[in-house]
Amino acid sequence: MVERKKKTQDDAANLASLKPFRLVKFFSYSGLAVFLLFTLVLSWIISNHAKKVLLERSEAYAFVVAENLSHQVFQQFVLPTVMRYGEIALRKPEQFARLDTVVRNATHGMRIQAVTIFDSSENIISYSMVASRIGRKGEGGIEYHKALAGENNSVVRSAGSLLNLLPGGRPITSQLSTFIPFRQYQANKQKEGIILGVIEVVQDLSEDVAAITKLQGSIIFTSMLIMSALFVVLGFIVARADRIIEARAEERRRLEQQLHQSQRLATLGKMVASVSHEIKNPLGIVRSTADILGKRLKSVAPGNEHLAEIIVEETGRLDGIVREFLDFARPQEPNRALTSVNDIFSKILAFMEPELERKGIVLETSLSQDMPQISLDQGLMHRACLNILVNSVQAMAEGGRLSVETRYEKAVGVATLIVSDTGLGMSPEKQGHIFTPFYTDKNRGTGLGLAIVKNIVDSHHGTITVDSKEGEGTTFTIVLPGR
Ligand SMILES: Nc1ncnc2c1ncn2[C@@H]1O[C@H](COP(=O)(O)OP(=O)(O)OP(=O)(O)O)[C@@H](O)[C@H]1O
Ligand SMILES: [Mg+2]
Repeated sequence: MVERKKKTQDDAANLASLKPFRLVKFFSYSGLAVFLLFTLVLSWIISNHAKKVLLERSEAYAFVVAENLSHQVFQQFVLPTVMRYGEIALRKPEQFARLDTVVRNATHGMRIQAVTIFDSSENIISYSMVASRIGRKGEGGIEYHKALAGENNSVVRSAGSLLNLLPGGRPITSQLSTFIPFRQYQANKQKEGIILGVIEVVQDLSEDVAAITKLQGSIIFTSMLIMSALFVVLGFIVARADRIIEARAEERRRLEQQLHQSQRLATLGKMVASVSHEIKNPLGIVRSTADILGKRLKSVAPGNEHLAEIIVEETGRLDGIVREFLDFARPQEPNRALTSVNDIFSKILAFMEPELERKGIVLETSLSQDMPQISLDQGLMHRACLNILVNSVQAMAEGGRLSVETRYEKAVGVATLIVSDTGLGMSPEKQGHIFTPFYTDKNRGTGLGLAIVKNIVDSHHGTITVDSKEGEGTTFTIVLPGR
Protein backbone atom coordinates (compact mmCIF):
# COMPACT_ATOMS: atom_id res chain seq x y z
CA MET A 1 0.00 0.00 0.00
CA VAL A 2 2.75 2.39 1.08
CA GLU A 3 4.82 1.16 -1.85
CA ARG A 4 2.02 1.90 -4.30
CA LYS A 5 1.50 5.37 -2.85
CA LYS A 6 5.18 6.11 -3.30
CA LYS A 7 5.06 4.92 -6.90
CA THR A 8 2.13 7.21 -7.62
CA GLN A 9 4.06 10.12 -6.10
CA ASP A 10 7.09 9.27 -8.23
CA ASP A 11 4.95 9.11 -11.37
CA ALA A 12 3.43 12.47 -10.49
CA ALA A 13 6.89 13.97 -10.01
CA ASN A 14 8.01 12.54 -13.37
CA LEU A 15 4.94 13.94 -15.06
CA ALA A 16 5.51 17.36 -13.50
CA SER A 17 9.09 17.45 -14.78
CA LEU A 18 7.97 16.38 -18.28
CA LYS A 19 5.10 18.85 -18.47
CA PRO A 20 7.05 22.02 -19.38
CA PHE A 21 8.80 20.09 -22.12
CA ARG A 22 5.51 18.75 -23.51
CA LEU A 23 4.24 22.33 -23.58
CA VAL A 24 7.29 23.46 -25.55
CA LYS A 25 6.73 20.58 -27.96
CA PHE A 26 3.06 21.45 -28.32
CA PHE A 27 3.80 25.14 -28.90
CA SER A 28 6.49 24.40 -31.47
CA TYR A 29 4.31 22.07 -33.49
CA SER A 30 1.21 24.23 -33.33
CA GLY A 31 3.36 27.32 -34.10
CA LEU A 32 4.59 25.60 -37.24
CA ALA A 33 1.06 24.61 -38.24
CA VAL A 34 -0.20 28.18 -37.75
CA PHE A 35 2.73 29.53 -39.76
CA LEU A 36 1.97 27.11 -42.59
CA LEU A 37 -1.70 28.10 -42.61
CA PHE A 38 -0.69 31.76 -42.53
CA THR A 39 1.59 31.28 -45.58
CA LEU A 40 -1.18 29.50 -47.47
CA VAL A 41 -3.62 32.34 -46.77
CA LEU A 42 -0.95 34.94 -47.58
CA SER A 43 -0.08 33.32 -50.90
CA TRP A 44 -3.77 33.18 -51.75
CA ILE A 45 -4.25 36.89 -50.90
CA ILE A 46 -1.14 37.92 -52.88
CA SER A 47 -2.11 35.97 -55.99
CA ASN A 48 -5.72 37.11 -55.83
CA HIS A 49 -4.66 40.71 -55.54
CA ALA A 50 -2.26 40.31 -58.47
CA LYS A 51 -5.05 38.75 -60.55
CA LYS A 52 -7.42 41.57 -59.62
CA VAL A 53 -4.89 44.23 -60.67
CA LEU A 54 -4.21 42.36 -63.90
CA LEU A 55 -7.93 42.20 -64.72
CA GLU A 56 -8.53 45.86 -63.90
CA ARG A 57 -5.63 46.93 -66.12
CA SER A 58 -6.62 44.60 -68.93
CA GLU A 59 -10.23 45.71 -68.72
CA ALA A 60 -9.26 49.40 -68.85
CA TYR A 61 -7.01 48.66 -71.82
CA ALA A 62 -9.79 46.71 -73.55
CA PHE A 63 -12.25 49.59 -73.08
CA VAL A 64 -9.83 52.00 -74.75
CA VAL A 65 -9.14 49.56 -77.59
CA ALA A 66 -12.86 48.83 -78.06
CA GLU A 67 -13.77 52.53 -78.03
CA ASN A 68 -11.14 53.23 -80.63
CA LEU A 69 -12.27 50.24 -82.65
CA SER A 70 -15.86 51.33 -82.50
CA HIS A 71 -14.84 54.77 -83.72
CA GLN A 72 -12.69 53.40 -86.54
CA VAL A 73 -15.40 50.98 -87.70
CA PHE A 74 -17.99 53.70 -87.73
CA GLN A 75 -15.79 56.22 -89.55
CA GLN A 76 -14.05 53.91 -91.95
CA PHE A 77 -16.68 51.29 -92.59
CA VAL A 78 -20.21 52.25 -91.60
CA LEU A 79 -20.21 55.77 -93.06
CA PRO A 80 -18.47 54.96 -96.37
CA THR A 81 -20.53 51.77 -96.86
CA VAL A 82 -23.84 53.47 -96.23
CA MET A 83 -22.84 56.29 -98.55
CA ARG A 84 -21.77 53.90 -101.24
CA TYR A 85 -24.27 51.02 -101.01
CA GLY A 86 -27.12 52.67 -99.12
CA GLU A 87 -27.23 49.88 -96.54
CA ILE A 88 -24.91 47.60 -94.59
CA ALA A 89 -25.03 44.01 -95.67
CA LEU A 90 -22.11 41.96 -94.37
CA ARG A 91 -23.29 39.00 -96.43
CA LYS A 92 -21.68 40.78 -99.32
CA PRO A 93 -18.05 39.72 -99.47
CA GLU A 94 -16.70 43.16 -100.41
CA GLN A 95 -18.43 44.74 -97.39
CA PHE A 96 -17.23 41.98 -95.10
CA ALA A 97 -13.68 42.26 -96.47
CA ARG A 98 -13.68 45.99 -95.88
CA LEU A 99 -14.91 45.63 -92.30
CA ASP A 100 -12.38 42.88 -91.68
CA THR A 101 -9.54 45.10 -92.93
CA VAL A 102 -10.70 48.01 -90.78
CA VAL A 103 -10.93 45.82 -87.67
CA ARG A 104 -7.57 44.15 -88.27
CA ASN A 105 -5.85 47.49 -88.90
CA ALA A 106 -7.37 49.01 -85.79
CA THR A 107 -6.27 46.11 -83.54
CA HIS A 108 -2.93 45.39 -85.17
CA GLY A 109 -0.16 44.81 -82.58
CA MET A 110 -2.51 45.38 -79.68
CA ARG A 111 -2.53 42.04 -77.80
CA ILE A 112 -6.13 41.41 -78.86
CA GLN A 113 -7.08 37.82 -79.54
CA ALA A 114 -10.40 38.32 -81.29
CA VAL A 115 -13.03 40.93 -82.09
CA THR A 116 -16.71 40.13 -82.53
CA ILE A 117 -19.55 42.45 -83.49
CA PHE A 118 -23.11 41.56 -82.50
CA ASP A 119 -26.22 42.88 -84.17
CA SER A 120 -28.41 45.26 -82.20
CA SER A 121 -31.81 43.91 -83.26
CA GLU A 122 -31.12 40.32 -82.24
CA ASN A 123 -28.37 38.43 -80.41
CA ILE A 124 -26.57 37.28 -83.56
CA ILE A 125 -22.94 37.56 -84.54
CA SER A 126 -22.61 39.83 -87.62
CA TYR A 127 -18.84 39.87 -87.71
CA SER A 128 -16.05 37.93 -86.02
CA MET A 129 -12.33 37.52 -86.60
CA VAL A 130 -13.06 33.84 -85.98
CA ALA A 131 -14.93 33.03 -89.18
CA SER A 132 -16.77 30.02 -87.73
CA ARG A 133 -18.61 32.20 -85.22
CA ILE A 134 -20.27 34.39 -87.84
CA GLY A 135 -24.03 33.96 -87.95
CA ARG A 136 -24.29 32.19 -84.58
CA LYS A 137 -27.20 33.21 -82.38
CA GLY A 138 -27.52 33.75 -78.65
CA GLU A 139 -23.79 33.75 -77.86
CA GLY A 140 -23.76 37.25 -76.41
CA GLY A 141 -25.13 36.29 -73.02
CA ILE A 142 -25.96 38.75 -70.28
CA GLU A 143 -22.95 40.93 -71.17
CA TYR A 144 -24.41 41.55 -74.62
CA HIS A 145 -27.68 42.78 -73.15
CA LYS A 146 -25.86 45.02 -70.67
CA ALA A 147 -23.83 46.57 -73.48
CA LEU A 148 -26.99 47.03 -75.54
CA ALA A 149 -28.37 48.97 -72.58
CA GLY A 150 -25.33 51.24 -72.87
CA GLU A 151 -23.16 49.72 -70.16
CA ASN A 152 -19.53 48.76 -70.74
CA ASN A 153 -18.83 45.44 -69.05
CA SER A 154 -16.57 42.43 -69.14
CA VAL A 155 -16.34 38.79 -68.16
CA VAL A 156 -13.42 36.45 -67.40
CA ARG A 157 -13.44 32.88 -68.58
CA SER A 158 -10.73 30.86 -66.82
CA ALA A 159 -9.84 27.22 -66.53
CA GLY A 160 -7.21 25.64 -64.34
CA SER A 161 -5.79 26.12 -60.86
CA LEU A 162 -2.67 25.31 -58.87
CA LEU A 163 -3.17 21.63 -59.64
CA ASN A 164 -2.64 22.33 -63.36
CA LEU A 165 0.98 23.25 -62.51
CA LEU A 166 1.68 19.62 -61.66
CA PRO A 167 3.52 17.69 -64.36
CA GLY A 168 1.08 16.45 -66.99
CA GLY A 169 -1.61 18.97 -66.01
CA ARG A 170 -3.51 20.88 -68.69
CA PRO A 171 -2.24 24.44 -69.26
CA ILE A 172 -4.04 27.24 -67.44
CA THR A 173 -6.26 29.35 -69.72
CA SER A 174 -7.85 32.70 -69.05
CA GLN A 175 -9.69 35.04 -71.39
CA LEU A 176 -11.13 38.46 -70.72
CA SER A 177 -14.10 39.39 -72.94
CA THR A 178 -15.03 43.05 -72.86
CA PHE A 179 -18.36 44.22 -74.28
CA ILE A 180 -19.10 47.82 -75.24
CA PRO A 181 -21.99 49.32 -77.22
CA PHE A 182 -21.19 50.10 -80.84
CA ARG A 183 -22.51 53.62 -81.33
CA GLN A 184 -23.23 55.88 -84.16
CA TYR A 185 -20.80 58.78 -83.76
CA GLN A 186 -22.22 62.27 -83.58
CA ALA A 187 -20.41 65.41 -84.54
CA ASN A 188 -21.94 66.84 -81.42
CA LYS A 189 -20.21 64.85 -78.63
CA GLN A 190 -22.73 66.07 -76.04
CA LYS A 191 -25.33 63.57 -77.23
CA GLU A 192 -24.82 59.87 -77.11
CA GLY A 193 -25.21 58.17 -80.50
CA ILE A 194 -27.69 55.42 -81.38
CA ILE A 195 -26.50 51.91 -80.49
CA LEU A 196 -25.88 49.98 -83.69
CA GLY A 197 -24.64 46.81 -82.10
CA VAL A 198 -22.20 45.40 -79.52
CA ILE A 199 -18.45 45.01 -79.89
CA GLU A 200 -16.73 42.21 -78.00
CA VAL A 201 -12.97 42.37 -77.58
CA VAL A 202 -11.28 39.19 -76.33
CA GLN A 203 -7.87 39.29 -74.65
CA ASP A 204 -5.84 36.20 -73.86
CA LEU A 205 -4.57 36.49 -70.27
CA SER A 206 -3.47 32.84 -69.99
CA GLU A 207 0.23 33.63 -69.75
CA ASP A 208 -0.19 36.28 -67.06
CA VAL A 209 -2.61 34.19 -65.00
CA ALA A 210 -0.32 31.17 -65.34
CA ALA A 211 2.62 33.32 -64.13
CA ILE A 212 0.59 34.51 -61.12
CA THR A 213 -0.51 30.95 -60.31
CA LYS A 214 3.12 29.86 -60.60
CA LEU A 215 4.09 32.61 -58.17
CA GLN A 216 1.41 31.36 -55.77
CA GLY A 217 2.71 27.83 -56.21
CA SER A 218 6.30 28.86 -55.56
CA ILE A 219 5.32 30.79 -52.41
CA ILE A 220 3.54 27.69 -51.09
CA PHE A 221 6.35 25.36 -52.21
CA THR A 222 9.08 27.52 -50.66
CA SER A 223 7.24 27.87 -47.38
CA MET A 224 6.55 24.14 -47.31
CA LEU A 225 10.26 23.54 -47.91
CA ILE A 226 11.19 25.89 -45.06
CA MET A 227 8.52 24.27 -42.88
CA SER A 228 9.83 20.78 -43.61
CA ALA A 229 13.38 21.87 -42.80
CA LEU A 230 12.11 23.40 -39.55
CA PHE A 231 10.15 20.23 -38.78
CA VAL A 232 13.23 18.09 -39.34
CA VAL A 233 15.38 20.32 -37.13
CA LEU A 234 12.66 20.46 -34.49
CA GLY A 235 12.22 16.71 -34.74
CA PHE A 236 15.94 16.25 -34.04
CA ILE A 237 15.81 18.63 -31.08
CA VAL A 238 12.72 16.94 -29.67
CA ALA A 239 14.21 13.46 -30.14
CA ARG A 240 17.43 14.57 -28.47
CA ALA A 241 15.56 16.18 -25.60
CA ASP A 242 13.51 12.99 -25.26
CA ARG A 243 16.68 10.95 -25.03
CA ILE A 244 18.20 13.30 -22.44
CA ILE A 245 15.02 13.18 -20.35
CA GLU A 246 14.89 9.40 -20.65
CA ALA A 247 18.56 9.13 -19.66
CA ARG A 248 17.99 11.39 -16.65
CA ALA A 249 14.95 9.38 -15.58
CA GLU A 250 17.01 6.20 -15.97
CA GLU A 251 19.87 7.70 -13.92
CA ARG A 252 17.40 8.72 -11.23
CA ARG A 253 15.89 5.25 -11.13
CA ARG A 254 19.39 3.76 -10.87
CA LEU A 255 20.35 6.08 -8.01
CA GLU A 256 17.11 5.33 -6.20
CA GLN A 257 17.74 1.62 -6.62
CA GLN A 258 21.26 2.07 -5.29
CA LEU A 259 19.89 3.95 -2.32
CA HIS A 260 17.36 1.21 -1.58
CA GLN A 261 20.06 -1.39 -1.99
CA SER A 262 22.42 0.34 0.41
CA GLN A 263 19.59 0.88 2.89
CA ARG A 264 18.80 -2.82 2.72
CA LEU A 265 22.47 -3.69 3.09
CA ALA A 266 22.84 -1.39 6.07
CA THR A 267 19.96 -3.17 7.84
CA LEU A 268 21.35 -6.53 6.84
CA GLY A 269 24.77 -5.44 8.10
CA LYS A 270 23.37 -4.53 11.51
CA MET A 271 21.65 -7.90 11.74
CA VAL A 272 24.74 -9.80 10.66
CA ALA A 273 26.87 -7.84 13.12
CA SER A 274 24.67 -8.67 16.10
CA VAL A 275 24.28 -12.34 15.12
CA SER A 276 28.02 -12.71 14.48
CA HIS A 277 28.79 -11.07 17.79
CA GLU A 278 26.50 -13.51 19.58
CA ILE A 279 28.10 -16.48 17.78
CA LYS A 280 31.68 -15.41 18.46
CA ASN A 281 31.71 -16.09 22.24
CA PRO A 282 30.08 -19.57 22.20
CA LEU A 283 32.38 -20.42 19.30
CA GLY A 284 35.43 -19.53 21.41
CA ILE A 285 34.08 -21.75 24.19
CA VAL A 286 33.43 -24.68 21.78
CA ARG A 287 36.94 -24.34 20.39
CA SER A 288 38.75 -24.29 23.75
CA THR A 289 36.53 -27.12 25.03
CA ALA A 290 37.38 -29.19 21.93
CA ASP A 291 41.05 -28.47 22.59
CA ILE A 292 40.79 -29.82 26.13
CA LEU A 293 38.69 -32.76 24.90
CA GLY A 294 41.36 -33.63 22.34
CA LYS A 295 44.03 -33.77 25.03
CA ARG A 296 41.84 -36.01 27.21
CA LEU A 297 40.90 -38.31 24.31
CA LYS A 298 44.60 -38.97 23.82
CA SER A 299 44.70 -40.84 27.14
CA VAL A 300 41.09 -42.13 27.32
CA ALA A 301 40.54 -43.25 23.71
CA PRO A 302 43.82 -43.06 21.83
CA GLY A 303 43.46 -42.82 18.05
CA ASN A 304 40.33 -40.65 18.23
CA GLU A 305 42.08 -37.32 18.81
CA HIS A 306 41.48 -36.34 15.20
CA LEU A 307 37.75 -36.03 16.01
CA ALA A 308 38.48 -33.19 18.41
CA GLU A 309 40.92 -31.73 15.90
CA ILE A 310 38.16 -31.58 13.29
CA ILE A 311 36.03 -29.58 15.74
CA VAL A 312 38.93 -27.20 16.43
CA GLU A 313 39.66 -26.80 12.73
CA GLU A 314 36.07 -26.19 11.73
CA THR A 315 35.42 -23.77 14.61
CA GLY A 316 38.57 -21.94 13.46
CA ARG A 317 37.07 -21.66 9.98
CA LEU A 318 33.73 -20.59 11.39
CA ASP A 319 35.53 -17.99 13.45
CA GLY A 320 37.17 -16.67 10.27
CA ILE A 321 33.80 -16.40 8.56
CA VAL A 322 32.24 -14.64 11.54
CA ARG A 323 35.17 -12.22 11.62
CA GLU A 324 34.67 -11.51 7.89
CA PHE A 325 30.99 -10.86 8.53
CA LEU A 326 31.86 -8.50 11.35
CA ASP A 327 34.48 -6.72 9.24
CA PHE A 328 32.00 -6.21 6.47
CA ALA A 329 29.04 -5.29 8.63
CA ARG A 330 30.95 -2.79 10.74
CA PRO A 331 33.16 -0.89 8.34
CA GLN A 332 35.62 0.90 10.55
CA GLU A 333 36.97 4.38 10.12
CA PRO A 334 40.63 3.91 9.19
CA ASN A 335 42.96 4.46 12.09
CA ARG A 336 45.69 6.13 10.07
CA ALA A 337 49.40 6.13 10.72
CA LEU A 338 52.41 6.44 8.38
CA THR A 339 52.78 2.99 6.90
CA SER A 340 54.83 1.32 4.17
CA VAL A 341 52.68 -0.60 1.70
CA ASN A 342 55.85 -2.42 0.58
CA ASP A 343 56.21 -3.79 4.11
CA ILE A 344 52.58 -4.91 4.14
CA PHE A 345 53.12 -6.90 0.94
CA SER A 346 56.47 -8.30 2.14
CA LYS A 347 54.91 -9.58 5.35
CA ILE A 348 51.95 -11.21 3.60
CA LEU A 349 54.13 -12.79 0.92
CA ALA A 350 56.58 -14.16 3.49
CA PHE A 351 53.63 -15.71 5.30
CA MET A 352 52.22 -17.16 2.07
CA GLU A 353 55.52 -18.42 0.68
CA PRO A 354 55.15 -22.08 1.76
CA GLU A 355 51.69 -22.27 0.19
CA LEU A 356 52.90 -20.70 -3.04
CA GLU A 357 55.67 -23.21 -3.24
CA ARG A 358 53.31 -26.07 -2.52
CA LYS A 359 50.97 -24.98 -5.34
CA GLY A 360 53.81 -24.35 -7.80
CA ILE A 361 53.20 -20.63 -8.04
CA VAL A 362 56.12 -18.49 -9.13
CA LEU A 363 56.28 -15.14 -7.37
CA GLU A 364 57.51 -11.94 -9.01
CA THR A 365 57.75 -8.81 -6.96
CA SER A 366 58.61 -5.30 -8.03
CA LEU A 367 58.25 -3.02 -5.02
CA SER A 368 59.07 0.61 -5.71
CA GLN A 369 62.11 1.89 -3.86
CA ASP A 370 60.68 5.42 -3.98
CA MET A 371 57.54 4.42 -2.12
CA PRO A 372 57.21 6.77 0.84
CA GLN A 373 55.33 5.95 4.01
CA ILE A 374 51.67 6.66 3.48
CA SER A 375 49.00 7.61 5.99
CA LEU A 376 46.95 4.36 6.17
CA ASP A 377 45.25 2.02 8.56
CA GLN A 378 47.86 -0.73 8.51
CA GLY A 379 45.49 -3.44 9.78
CA LEU A 380 42.79 -2.68 7.22
CA MET A 381 45.20 -2.37 4.31
CA HIS A 382 46.87 -5.62 5.32
CA ARG A 383 43.46 -7.27 5.24
CA ALA A 384 42.62 -5.81 1.81
CA CYS A 385 45.91 -6.94 0.24
CA LEU A 386 45.61 -10.36 1.86
CA ASN A 387 42.07 -10.87 0.47
CA ILE A 388 43.26 -10.03 -3.06
CA LEU A 389 46.32 -12.26 -2.82
CA VAL A 390 44.28 -15.16 -1.37
CA ASN A 391 41.84 -14.87 -4.28
CA SER A 392 44.73 -14.95 -6.76
CA VAL A 393 46.25 -18.02 -5.14
CA GLN A 394 42.84 -19.72 -5.11
CA ALA A 395 42.45 -18.90 -8.83
CA MET A 396 45.75 -20.71 -9.61
CA ALA A 397 45.04 -24.18 -8.26
CA GLU A 398 47.26 -25.63 -10.99
CA GLY A 399 50.13 -23.19 -10.36
CA GLY A 400 51.06 -20.09 -12.29
CA ARG A 401 52.71 -16.73 -11.86
CA LEU A 402 51.77 -14.22 -9.19
CA SER A 403 53.20 -10.76 -9.58
CA VAL A 404 53.03 -7.97 -7.06
CA GLU A 405 54.05 -4.46 -7.98
CA THR A 406 54.00 -1.11 -6.24
CA ARG A 407 54.58 2.27 -7.91
CA TYR A 408 54.75 5.78 -6.67
CA GLU A 409 54.14 8.81 -8.81
CA LYS A 410 55.84 11.63 -7.04
CA ALA A 411 54.45 14.41 -9.24
CA VAL A 412 50.83 13.62 -8.35
CA GLY A 413 51.51 11.89 -5.05
CA VAL A 414 49.72 8.67 -5.95
CA ALA A 415 50.58 5.13 -4.84
CA THR A 416 49.55 2.26 -7.11
CA LEU A 417 49.33 -1.37 -5.94
CA ILE A 418 49.06 -4.02 -8.64
CA VAL A 419 48.41 -7.73 -8.09
CA SER A 420 48.35 -9.99 -11.18
CA ASP A 421 47.84 -13.69 -11.55
CA THR A 422 47.73 -16.17 -14.41
CA GLY A 423 44.75 -17.99 -12.96
CA LEU A 424 41.20 -18.71 -14.10
CA GLY A 425 40.28 -15.14 -15.03
CA MET A 426 36.72 -13.82 -15.21
CA SER A 427 34.11 -12.99 -17.82
CA PRO A 428 33.17 -9.29 -18.13
CA GLU A 429 29.78 -10.14 -16.63
CA LYS A 430 31.37 -11.72 -13.58
CA GLN A 431 33.72 -8.73 -13.17
CA GLY A 432 30.63 -6.60 -12.77
CA HIS A 433 29.52 -8.58 -9.70
CA ILE A 434 32.65 -9.41 -7.74
CA PHE A 435 32.51 -6.36 -5.45
CA THR A 436 28.91 -7.14 -4.50
CA PRO A 437 28.63 -8.67 -1.01
CA PHE A 438 27.99 -12.43 -0.91
CA TYR A 439 28.88 -12.92 -4.58
CA THR A 440 31.00 -16.06 -4.75
CA ASP A 441 31.49 -19.15 -6.85
CA LYS A 442 33.48 -20.98 -4.24
CA ASN A 443 32.08 -23.77 -2.10
CA ARG A 444 33.57 -22.45 1.07
CA GLY A 445 33.55 -18.76 0.30
CA THR A 446 31.35 -16.08 1.84
CA GLY A 447 31.68 -13.71 -1.11
CA LEU A 448 32.62 -10.91 1.26
CA GLY A 449 36.37 -10.78 0.51
CA LEU A 450 36.28 -8.20 -2.30
CA ALA A 451 33.32 -6.33 -0.77
CA ILE A 452 35.50 -5.75 2.29
CA VAL A 453 38.46 -4.75 0.07
CA LYS A 454 36.25 -2.20 -1.65
CA ASN A 455 35.03 -0.79 1.68
CA ILE A 456 38.61 -0.44 2.89
CA VAL A 457 39.85 1.21 -0.33
CA ASP A 458 36.83 3.55 -0.32
CA SER A 459 37.48 4.53 3.27
CA HIS A 460 41.01 5.51 2.20
CA HIS A 461 39.56 7.60 -0.67
CA GLY A 462 41.25 5.31 -3.17
CA THR A 463 39.96 3.34 -6.16
CA ILE A 464 40.09 -0.32 -7.09
CA THR A 465 39.75 -1.68 -10.62
CA VAL A 466 39.86 -5.15 -12.10
CA ASP A 467 41.09 -6.24 -15.49
CA SER A 468 40.60 -9.88 -16.34
CA LYS A 469 40.30 -12.33 -19.19
CA GLU A 470 38.78 -15.76 -18.85
CA GLY A 471 41.47 -18.46 -18.93
CA GLU A 472 44.30 -15.91 -18.97
CA GLY A 473 44.43 -14.19 -15.62
CA THR A 474 43.40 -11.24 -13.53
CA THR A 475 44.92 -7.94 -12.46
CA PHE A 476 43.66 -5.86 -9.53
CA THR A 477 44.88 -2.28 -9.31
CA ILE A 478 44.47 -0.15 -6.21
CA VAL A 479 45.24 3.54 -6.46
CA LEU A 480 45.68 5.42 -3.18
CA PRO A 481 46.30 9.06 -2.53
CA GLY A 482 49.83 9.08 -1.19
CA ARG A 483 49.87 12.37 0.69
N1 LIG B 1 42.07 -13.37 -8.89
C1 LIG B 1 40.88 -13.88 -9.24
N2 LIG B 1 40.77 -14.71 -10.31
C2 LIG B 1 39.58 -15.23 -10.68
N3 LIG B 1 38.42 -14.98 -10.02
C3 LIG B 1 38.46 -14.17 -8.96
C4 LIG B 1 39.67 -13.57 -8.51
N4 LIG B 1 39.39 -12.79 -7.44
C5 LIG B 1 38.06 -12.91 -7.21
N5 LIG B 1 37.50 -13.74 -8.12
C6 LIG B 1 36.08 -14.09 -8.21
O1 LIG B 1 35.35 -13.17 -7.45
C7 LIG B 1 34.51 -13.86 -6.53
C8 LIG B 1 34.32 -13.01 -5.29
O2 LIG B 1 35.54 -12.93 -4.59
P1 LIG B 1 35.48 -12.64 -3.05
O3 LIG B 1 36.88 -12.58 -2.56
O4 LIG B 1 34.64 -11.46 -2.82
O5 LIG B 1 34.72 -13.86 -2.50
P2 LIG B 1 35.25 -15.36 -2.36
O6 LIG B 1 36.72 -15.38 -2.58
O7 LIG B 1 34.42 -16.19 -3.27
O8 LIG B 1 34.89 -15.67 -0.91
P3 LIG B 1 35.70 -15.19 0.38
O9 LIG B 1 36.73 -14.24 -0.11
O10 LIG B 1 34.68 -14.53 1.20
O11 LIG B 1 36.26 -16.41 0.92
C9 LIG B 1 35.18 -15.17 -6.30
O12 LIG B 1 34.25 -16.13 -5.92
C10 LIG B 1 35.82 -15.46 -7.65
O13 LIG B 1 34.87 -16.08 -8.50
MG1 LIG C 1 38.07 -14.16 -1.56
